[in-house]
Amino acid sequence: MENIVIIGASKGIGKAISLELAKKNKHIILVSRDKENLEKTKLVCEEKGGSAEVFKCDLLNEQDIKALCEYLKRIKIDIFIYNSGVVYGKDFSNMKEEEINNILNVNAIVPTRLTHLLMETFEKNKTHIVYIGSIASYFFGPGCTLYFATKNYLKTFAYGVYEEFKRKGIKVLTVSPGFVATDMVFNNTKKELGSAFICTPEFVAKEVRKAIEKKKRKIIVGKINKLMVFFGRIIPSKLFGKVFYKVAKVYLKE
Ligand SMILES: NC(=O)c1ccc[n+]([C@@H]2O[C@H](COP(=O)([O-])OP(=O)(O)OC[C@H]3O[C@@H](n4cnc5c(N)ncnc54)[C@H](OP(=O)(O)O)[C@@H]3O)[C@@H](O)[C@H]2O)c1
Repeated sequence: MENIVIIGASKGIGKAISLELAKKNKHIILVSRDKENLEKTKLVCEEKGGSAEVFKCDLLNEQDIKALCEYLKRIKIDIFIYNSGVVYGKDFSNMKEEEINNILNVNAIVPTRLTHLLMETFEKNKTHIVYIGSIASYFFGPGCTLYFATKNYLKTFAYGVYEEFKRKGIKVLTVSPGFVATDMVFNNTKKELGSAFICTPEFVAKEVRKAIEKKKRKIIVGKINKLMVFFGRIIPSKLFGKVFYKVAKVYLKE
């Protein structure tokens, strides 16, 4: 039986990945705050022939993190997926202290700490670690400053972990989706995005499964997003920042 831990499995991309990976001989440990939604994900995992369990955990709560790590240290973790993330579609100068704390913790500090706290378990089990980042990690700019910054951090951190851990037989995959049709986007955009720019969480989940199977180191999900990253590299960053700001003002809620 293969144990798969998914942090942030209650909805959106994390839920879709849980369902994509659920099959016979796979046991999914579904982690996040929303127990009711996690139970729903568990039922569908079971319908797909896999088994699942729910672990309620608020990543902003120290006791919850401790309990999660204590539990995970006792089991064999074959795949560990850090998917939880938050976004505030606003300029840094308009953010409240609590929002700054949440985004830094959920997107950057907690994945760092969990990786460190579980390092020995990962080494022992040769765990396949997956970090769900974003194509935001390839850019910077106003409108969504801290989201860009935390996803940049997560990507750099994940690449470093890959380099450090590869000699120990630990595989690390970094996933960078673009816009995905989940609550994160719908709650933060004021205009409907064109369908060419937005993909489904199920599509992202399939790409994640394939990348795990092929033991890839990093993926950018979607052709348009690959192109954006490519042009982002060749267009001067100042110009790219200006274009992003204009787009953010049109699409993102304040
Ligand atoms: N949607 C996009 O366009 C897009 C694009 C690129 C990358 N991503 C990345 O993909 C990942 C998933 O995003 P999504 O679009 O699926 O968003 P979503 O539907 O809003 O789901 C976010 C997940 O994060 C969990 N989470 C948030 N705060 C948490 C906390 N304090 N403790 C525990 N879990 C917490 C939520 O669980 P609970 O609420 O149950 O706690 C939920 O399962 C994120 O890392 C995001 O940055 C998204």
